[in-house]
Amino acid sequence: MTILVTGGAGYIGSHTCVELLQNGYDVIIADNFDNSSPDVPERIARITGKTPKVYAIDVSDGPALERVFTENAIDAVIHFAGLKAVGESCRIPLRYYRNNLDTTLTLLETMERHGCARIVFSSSATVYGPKNGCPYTEDMDTSATNPYGWTKVMIEQILRDYCAANSGFSAVLLRYFNPIGAHASGLLGDDPNGIPNNLMPYVARVAAGQLPKLTVFGNDYPTRDGTCLRDYLHVVDLAKGHLSALEYAAAHTGAEAFNLGTGDGVSVLELVHAFRKVNGVEVPYVIGDRRDGDLAEVYANPTRANDALHWRAEKSVDDMCRDAWHFIQTRVAEG
Ligand code: NAD
Ligand code: UFG
Repeated sequence: MTILVTGGAGYIGSHTCVELLQNGYDVIIADNFDNSSPDVPERIARITGKTPKVYAIDVSDGPALERVFTENAIDAVIHFAGLKAVGESCRIPLRYYRNNLDTTLTLLETMERHGCARIVFSSSATVYGPKNGCPYTEDMDTSATNPYGWTKVMIEQILRDYCAANSGFSAVLLRYFNPIGAHASGLLGDDPNGIPNNLMPYVARVAAGQLPKLTVFGNDYPTRDGTCLRDYLHVVDLAKGHLSALEYAAAHTGAEAFNLGTGDGVSVLELVHAFRKVNGVEVPYVIGDRRDGDLAEVYANPTRANDALHWRAEKSVDDMCRDAWHFIQTRVAEG
């Protein structure tokens, strides 16, 4: 079975390509390397012994994507390609709407021309918006507080509308919670350019001495230690969820959403302390102001994914911390 993975060189996409190749799928990556390195496919090949086919294209480039579908018999698509930084999306919203919506529309139009009727889409816990209480369940209303989040809400709607009009089509909407960690090989991980926005890459760089200290954004939230709770899951567990979603898409039509999370809320300070303890390193931190837009708690009810996808997050917070540290150490050693 041949799977087109848009954004397959990115953080979650690359780990998913590894799982796909290790489970007998043929993989084609379409990525413009806007937020990833061109050496990622080679790293995937080092881990799996199999080289994915790569198209260095913008997925919203219709003729280029048409060539991908003409040259290959694609059975299903996993659609990761998109821009994902919440703060940046508030500063340059048009770029986010243009990129995230255009890639999806061009992809669906091209799939339609080629009779490809299965898609797995990277949605986000951010679609639960600010009004729902935790744990989130898939039947809750969706909304957003920033342009990035709205692109996810809109794309989910586009996929639902498309499925309603095309009875043989299958769209699996995977709502990721907070993926962290890295591949156990140390060859793949979350490696943002510049100063990280997200907690785990920031913590890892502080521990490695590349940044002086972590600022914990607020300790006056109504949580057990005053810092925000998030549902952290290991990126390899998340990657495996995509294989379950492909199987689900092969057996069902219509659009269906699934939460991919552990169901547990872990606080910022709990994560920092786990990182220090597991890896035997210091992570200097100070308590700072709250960050605009942060919710006190975000965690999933993952029952639907457990039951219908037969998927469950298995790795622990300690595993996530250990692998994130191994990845940054490997990066440092590589220079
Ligand atoms: P990432 O930035 O590492 O990967 C996205 C990949 O898409 C990159 O390789 C980038 O170069 C590529 N890309 C972007 N626009 C493209 C375009 N027009 N054409 C071709 N390639 C393009 O991000 P990630 O963390 O791996 O996230 C993957 C998907 O999951 C994204 O859609 C993101 O919004 C979603 N998501 C991520 C998180 C998270 O915490 N990482 C949480 C929820 C949802
Ligand atoms: N945090 C800090 N200091 C930092 C970075 C983060 O204290 O330097 C805190 C945040 O305030 C938050 C927690 O760590 O409480 C997690 O923050 P992240 O930025 O790692 O993750 P978010 O939960 O804010 O955002 C993630 C994705 C978004 C997605 C959202 C959906 O990055 O793309 O989950 O819930 F929209």
